[in-house]
Amino acid sequence: SRHVALVPAAGSGSRIGAPLPKQYLPLAGRPMIAHTLAALCAVEAIEKVFVVLSVDDPEWGRHDWSWLGPKLVPLFCGGATRAASVLGGLRAIAGELGQGDWVLVHDAARPCIAPWEVQRLIGELEDDEVGGLLALPVADTLKRADGHGRVLETVARERLWQAQTPQMFRHVMLRRALEDAAEVTDEAGAIEAAGLHPKLVQGDASNLKVTWPVDLYLAERILEGRLE
Ligand code: CTP
Ligand code: MG
Repeated sequence: SRHVALVPAAGSGSRIGAPLPKQYLPLAGRPMIAHTLAALCAVEAIEKVFVVLSVDDPEWGRHDWSWLGPKLVPLFCGGATRAASVLGGLRAIAGELGQGDWVLVHDAARPCIAPWEVQRLIGELEDDEVGGLLALPVADTLKRADGHGRVLETVARERLWQAQTPQMFRHVMLRRALEDAAEVTDEAGAIEAAGLHPKLVQGDASNLKVTWPVDLYLAERILEGRLE
């Protein structure tokens, strides 16, 4: 079976609050998404890297992407939510994929993913029935509060994991799960809603999602450290 990557990149980055969608913000000398795409294109097992952009993306056409090579394919079919963008992408590429092919969904906003981490995920899940995702054991102490910010309880962090991406599933199973799932924030959530149990593969804290302004600073340090 083959592997392709699908990169949702149709968000607006409202929490960062920059004038550009965050995936295009400059990071270590390039638009953020260039690092994400370069890492995925560098994975030998990945044959194509499909990028889901918003229908009225203002930025993609302003940059040269040819240096990333022939694996890269832009799709202007983003939706109103991350799940809708992923589903739109899956529908658009269905004709190019075979029955047992895997899709690795990876956020454009995780530019510090290392190719060897993706390779390791693929190796761990190759023979898996369901598929799975990179994830990190929760490090912080967690509190559940009432609506006024008053602590009700401490949630034991034992066996709690933070989901990362890539999330790797067979494209037919994933598409069906997303079509049936109501509101999910990641692919694994849709697979779970279908009654299946995705496998967690321990990832690395460097694979952070750029969400808040400080994450830009952290991501830049991580990327610069790797280029040295
Ligand atoms: N995404 C997408 N389509 C959407 C919303 C999000 O493809 N309608 C993508 C984003 O571009 C990002 C990834 O999903 O690469 C993770 O989403 P998130 O970090 O929430 O990005 P944004 O939605 O852009 O940011 P915010 O929630 O702060 O507005
Ligand atoms: Mg969002």
